[in-house]
Amino acid sequence: MSVLLGSHGSFRLAKHPAARTATELLGRVLRVSEPIYITETRTAYGIVAVDYAETLKDHLAAAPLERALLGTFAELVRAGGGGPVADVGCGPGRITTYLDSLGLDVTGIDLTPEMIAVAREAYPGLAFQVGTMTDLDLKDGALGGLVAWYSIIHTPPELLPVVFAEFARVLAPGGQLILAFQAGDEVVRVEQAYGHEVAADAYRLEPDRIAELLADAGIVLGTRVVKEREGQEKTPQAYLLAHKP
Ligand SMILES: C[S@@+](CC[C@H](N)C(=O)[O-])C[C@H]1O[C@@H](n2cnc3c(N)ncnc32)[C@H](O)[C@@H]1O
Repeated sequence: MSVLLGSHGSFRLAKHPAARTATELLGRVLRVSEPIYITETRTAYGIVAVDYAETLKDHLAAAPLERALLGTFAELVRAGGGGPVADVGCGPGRITTYLDSLGLDVTGIDLTPEMIAVAREAYPGLAFQVGTMTDLDLKDGALGGLVAWYSIIHTPPELLPVVFAEFARVLAPGGQLILAFQAGDEVVRVEQAYGHEVAADAYRLEPDRIAELLADAGIVLGTRVVKEREGQEKTPQAYLLAHKP
Protein backbone atom coordinates (compact mmCIF):
# COMPACT_ATOMS: atom_id res chain seq x y z
CA MET A 1 0.00 0.00 0.00
CA SER A 2 2.96 2.34 0.42
CA VAL A 3 2.91 3.02 -3.33
CA LEU A 4 -0.68 4.21 -3.08
CA LEU A 5 -0.39 6.08 0.19
CA GLY A 6 1.98 8.81 -0.95
CA SER A 7 2.79 11.88 1.06
CA HIS A 8 0.45 14.87 1.08
CA GLY A 9 0.72 16.72 -2.21
CA SER A 10 1.22 13.58 -4.32
CA PHE A 11 -2.37 12.41 -4.54
CA ARG A 12 -2.55 11.92 -8.29
CA LEU A 13 -3.46 8.28 -8.11
CA ALA A 14 -6.53 8.55 -10.33
CA LYS A 15 -4.51 9.80 -13.33
CA HIS A 16 -2.68 6.47 -13.67
CA PRO A 17 -4.12 4.05 -16.27
CA ALA A 18 -4.78 1.56 -13.47
CA ALA A 19 -6.41 4.28 -11.39
CA ARG A 20 -9.91 2.83 -11.30
CA THR A 21 -8.66 -0.55 -10.11
CA ALA A 22 -6.34 1.03 -7.56
CA THR A 23 -9.09 3.29 -6.21
CA GLU A 24 -11.49 0.35 -5.93
CA LEU A 25 -8.81 -1.72 -4.17
CA LEU A 26 -8.11 1.10 -1.75
CA GLY A 27 -11.83 1.42 -1.06
CA ARG A 28 -12.02 -2.27 -0.22
CA VAL A 29 -9.03 -1.96 2.14
CA LEU A 30 -10.72 0.98 3.92
CA ARG A 31 -13.90 -1.05 4.34
CA VAL A 32 -12.24 -4.01 6.02
CA SER A 33 -9.73 -2.27 8.28
CA GLU A 34 -10.32 1.03 10.06
CA PRO A 35 -7.55 3.53 9.31
CA ILE A 36 -6.15 5.61 12.14
CA TYR A 37 -7.47 8.85 10.63
CA ILE A 38 -11.03 7.55 10.97
CA THR A 39 -10.52 6.54 14.60
CA GLU A 40 -8.90 9.87 15.44
CA THR A 41 -11.56 11.91 13.64
CA ARG A 42 -14.45 10.07 15.30
CA THR A 43 -12.83 10.35 18.74
CA ALA A 44 -12.11 14.06 18.33
CA TYR A 45 -15.61 14.95 17.15
CA GLY A 46 -17.12 12.76 19.84
CA ILE A 47 -15.32 14.88 22.44
CA VAL A 48 -16.32 18.24 20.94
CA ALA A 49 -19.79 17.43 19.58
CA VAL A 50 -21.86 19.40 22.10
CA ASP A 51 -19.57 22.44 22.15
CA TYR A 52 -19.13 22.38 18.36
CA ALA A 53 -22.92 22.53 17.99
CA GLU A 54 -23.20 25.39 20.48
CA THR A 55 -20.35 27.38 18.89
CA LEU A 56 -21.62 27.02 15.31
CA LYS A 57 -25.35 27.29 15.96
CA ASP A 58 -25.68 30.88 14.68
CA HIS A 59 -22.87 30.79 12.13
CA LEU A 60 -24.96 30.24 9.01
CA ALA A 61 -27.29 33.12 9.91
CA ALA A 62 -24.26 35.42 9.71
CA ALA A 63 -22.82 33.86 6.53
CA PRO A 64 -24.75 35.23 3.52
CA LEU A 65 -22.34 33.76 0.97
CA GLU A 66 -22.72 30.26 2.42
CA ARG A 67 -26.51 30.60 2.43
CA ALA A 68 -26.43 31.84 -1.16
CA LEU A 69 -24.29 28.90 -2.27
CA LEU A 70 -26.47 26.37 -0.47
CA GLY A 71 -29.52 28.07 -2.00
CA THR A 72 -27.95 27.77 -5.45
CA PHE A 73 -27.24 24.09 -4.77
CA ALA A 74 -30.89 23.56 -3.76
CA GLU A 75 -32.10 25.20 -6.98
CA LEU A 76 -29.72 23.09 -9.06
CA VAL A 77 -30.95 19.90 -7.36
CA ARG A 78 -34.53 20.84 -8.19
CA ALA A 79 -33.60 21.80 -11.76
CA GLY A 80 -31.86 18.43 -12.15
CA GLY A 81 -35.07 16.59 -11.26
CA GLY A 82 -34.87 16.68 -7.44
CA GLY A 83 -34.53 13.50 -5.43
CA PRO A 84 -33.01 12.69 -2.06
CA VAL A 85 -30.05 14.69 -0.78
CA ALA A 86 -27.39 13.46 1.66
CA ASP A 87 -25.52 15.86 3.95
CA VAL A 88 -22.38 13.75 4.36
CA GLY A 89 -20.39 14.66 7.45
CA CYS A 90 -23.43 16.54 8.73
CA GLY A 91 -22.08 17.04 12.26
CA PRO A 92 -24.82 18.55 14.47
CA GLY A 93 -27.16 19.02 11.52
CA ARG A 94 -27.03 22.81 11.12
CA ILE A 95 -26.62 22.54 7.32
CA THR A 96 -29.08 19.64 7.12
CA THR A 97 -31.83 21.73 8.72
CA TYR A 98 -31.07 24.67 6.44
CA LEU A 99 -31.37 22.44 3.36
CA ASP A 100 -34.62 21.07 4.76
CA SER A 101 -35.89 24.65 5.15
CA LEU A 102 -35.12 25.14 1.43
CA GLY A 103 -37.45 22.27 0.61
CA LEU A 104 -34.92 19.51 -0.02
CA ASP A 105 -35.54 15.90 1.03
CA VAL A 106 -32.35 15.67 3.09
CA THR A 107 -30.75 13.08 5.36
CA GLY A 108 -27.71 13.74 7.54
CA ILE A 109 -24.92 11.16 7.67
CA ASP A 110 -21.91 11.38 9.97
CA LEU A 111 -19.04 9.23 11.17
CA THR A 112 -19.40 10.35 14.79
CA PRO A 113 -22.26 8.88 16.86
CA GLU A 114 -22.14 11.80 19.32
CA MET A 115 -22.70 14.25 16.45
CA ILE A 116 -25.65 12.22 15.23
CA ALA A 117 -27.09 12.18 18.78
CA VAL A 118 -26.79 15.98 18.99
CA ALA A 119 -28.39 16.38 15.54
CA ARG A 120 -31.29 14.08 16.40
CA GLU A 121 -31.99 15.93 19.62
CA ALA A 122 -31.87 19.34 17.92
CA TYR A 123 -33.90 18.34 14.85
CA PRO A 124 -36.16 15.41 15.78
CA GLY A 125 -38.14 15.80 12.56
CA LEU A 126 -35.12 15.10 10.34
CA ALA A 127 -33.39 11.81 9.49
CA PHE A 128 -29.81 11.26 10.62
CA GLN A 129 -27.64 8.17 10.50
CA VAL A 130 -24.11 7.12 11.40
CA GLY A 131 -22.04 6.34 8.33
CA THR A 132 -18.78 6.98 6.53
CA MET A 133 -18.14 8.75 3.26
CA THR A 134 -15.90 5.99 1.94
CA ASP A 135 -18.73 3.42 2.16
CA LEU A 136 -22.15 5.09 2.09
CA ASP A 137 -25.17 2.92 2.84
CA LEU A 138 -26.90 4.12 -0.33
CA LYS A 139 -27.77 2.46 -3.62
CA ASP A 140 -26.03 3.42 -6.86
CA GLY A 141 -27.59 6.58 -8.28
CA ALA A 142 -29.77 7.11 -5.19
CA LEU A 143 -29.15 10.84 -4.73
CA GLY A 144 -30.23 14.01 -6.47
CA GLY A 145 -27.66 15.88 -4.42
CA LEU A 146 -24.78 15.44 -1.98
CA VAL A 147 -23.33 18.03 0.40
CA ALA A 148 -19.93 17.64 2.06
CA TRP A 149 -19.61 20.81 4.14
CA TYR A 150 -16.16 20.90 5.76
CA SER A 151 -16.26 17.12 6.09
CA ILE A 152 -13.67 15.93 3.53
CA ILE A 153 -11.04 17.89 5.48
CA HIS A 154 -10.00 15.00 7.71
CA THR A 155 -9.50 12.47 4.92
CA PRO A 156 -5.84 12.22 3.86
CA PRO A 157 -5.76 13.71 0.33
CA GLU A 158 -4.35 10.51 -1.18
CA LEU A 159 -7.60 8.80 -0.14
CA LEU A 160 -9.92 11.42 -1.65
CA PRO A 161 -10.17 9.45 -4.94
CA VAL A 162 -11.97 6.75 -2.93
CA VAL A 163 -14.35 9.34 -1.41
CA PHE A 164 -15.10 10.95 -4.78
CA ALA A 165 -15.63 7.56 -6.44
CA GLU A 166 -18.19 6.86 -3.71
CA PHE A 167 -19.86 10.25 -4.25
CA ALA A 168 -20.03 9.52 -8.00
CA ARG A 169 -21.51 6.08 -7.32
CA VAL A 170 -24.38 7.36 -5.17
CA LEU A 171 -25.25 10.41 -7.30
CA ALA A 172 -27.85 9.93 -10.03
CA PRO A 173 -27.05 11.30 -13.50
CA GLY A 174 -27.68 15.04 -13.17
CA GLY A 175 -27.07 14.83 -9.42
CA GLN A 176 -25.45 17.86 -7.78
CA LEU A 177 -22.49 18.06 -5.40
CA ILE A 178 -21.37 20.92 -3.17
CA LEU A 179 -18.13 20.90 -1.20
CA ALA A 180 -16.80 23.40 1.34
CA PHE A 181 -13.27 23.26 2.73
CA GLN A 182 -10.37 25.42 3.88
CA ALA A 183 -8.19 26.35 0.89
CA GLY A 184 -4.46 25.69 1.08
CA ASP A 185 -1.93 22.91 0.82
CA GLU A 186 -0.91 21.68 4.24
CA VAL A 187 -1.86 19.39 7.05
CA VAL A 188 -2.56 20.80 10.50
CA ARG A 189 -2.35 18.70 13.65
CA VAL A 190 -5.33 19.76 15.75
CA GLU A 191 -4.67 19.42 19.48
CA GLN A 192 -7.19 21.90 20.92
CA ALA A 193 -10.71 22.43 19.62
CA TYR A 194 -13.86 23.97 21.09
CA GLY A 195 -12.33 24.02 24.55
CA HIS A 196 -11.11 20.40 24.53
CA GLU A 197 -7.88 18.49 23.99
CA VAL A 198 -8.14 16.39 20.84
CA ALA A 199 -5.78 14.69 18.38
CA ALA A 200 -6.66 14.69 14.69
CA ASP A 201 -5.33 15.95 11.37
CA ALA A 202 -7.07 18.55 9.22
CA TYR A 203 -6.08 19.08 5.59
CA ARG A 204 -6.22 22.33 3.71
CA LEU A 205 -6.86 21.58 0.08
CA GLU A 206 -6.18 23.27 -3.24
CA PRO A 207 -9.40 23.87 -5.19
CA ASP A 208 -7.66 23.09 -8.50
CA ARG A 209 -6.46 19.73 -7.17
CA ILE A 210 -9.90 18.88 -5.86
CA ALA A 211 -11.45 19.82 -9.22
CA GLU A 212 -8.99 17.43 -10.93
CA LEU A 213 -9.83 14.61 -8.56
CA LEU A 214 -13.55 15.19 -9.06
CA ALA A 215 -13.03 15.06 -12.83
CA ASP A 216 -11.11 11.80 -12.44
CA ALA A 217 -14.16 10.41 -10.60
CA GLY A 218 -16.50 11.57 -13.39
CA ILE A 219 -17.86 14.62 -11.55
CA VAL A 220 -17.79 17.90 -13.47
CA LEU A 221 -17.00 21.19 -11.74
CA GLY A 222 -19.47 23.97 -12.48
CA THR A 223 -18.55 26.75 -10.06
CA ARG A 224 -15.51 27.46 -7.91
CA VAL A 225 -15.73 30.18 -5.25
CA VAL A 226 -12.80 31.15 -3.03
CA LYS A 227 -13.62 33.64 -0.29
CA GLU A 228 -10.76 35.57 1.30
CA ARG A 229 -10.15 34.77 4.94
CA GLU A 230 -11.99 36.93 7.46
CA GLY A 231 -12.57 37.06 11.20
CA GLN A 232 -11.28 33.95 12.98
CA GLU A 233 -10.58 32.09 9.72
CA LYS A 234 -6.96 31.09 9.15
CA THR A 235 -7.25 30.45 5.40
CA PRO A 236 -9.41 31.40 2.42
CA GLN A 237 -12.54 29.26 2.20
CA ALA A 238 -13.30 27.20 -0.92
CA TYR A 239 -16.73 26.15 -2.21
CA LEU A 240 -17.12 23.91 -5.25
CA LEU A 241 -20.40 23.19 -7.04
CA ALA A 242 -20.22 20.20 -9.36
CA HIS A 243 -22.47 17.61 -10.95
CA LYS A 244 -22.47 14.10 -12.32
CA PRO A 245 -23.33 14.29 -16.05
C1 LIG B 1 -15.96 20.32 10.68
S1 LIG B 1 -17.26 19.18 11.00
C2 LIG B 1 -18.51 19.78 9.86
C3 LIG B 1 -19.89 19.39 10.29
C4 LIG B 1 -21.02 20.02 9.47
N1 LIG B 1 -20.92 19.68 8.07
C5 LIG B 1 -21.01 21.51 9.66
O1 LIG B 1 -20.65 22.24 8.71
O2 LIG B 1 -21.30 21.95 10.76
C6 LIG B 1 -16.71 17.70 10.18
C7 LIG B 1 -17.70 16.54 10.33
O3 LIG B 1 -17.35 15.54 9.37
C8 LIG B 1 -17.48 14.29 9.97
N2 LIG B 1 -16.61 13.36 9.22
C9 LIG B 1 -15.27 13.41 9.11
N3 LIG B 1 -14.82 12.40 8.35
C10 LIG B 1 -15.91 11.69 7.97
C11 LIG B 1 -16.12 10.52 7.19
N4 LIG B 1 -15.08 9.85 6.68
N5 LIG B 1 -17.37 10.10 6.97
C12 LIG B 1 -18.44 10.76 7.51
N6 LIG B 1 -18.31 11.85 8.28
C13 LIG B 1 -17.06 12.33 8.51
C14 LIG B 1 -17.05 14.49 11.41
O4 LIG B 1 -17.53 13.48 12.28
C15 LIG B 1 -17.65 15.86 11.69
O5 LIG B 1 -18.93 15.77 12.25
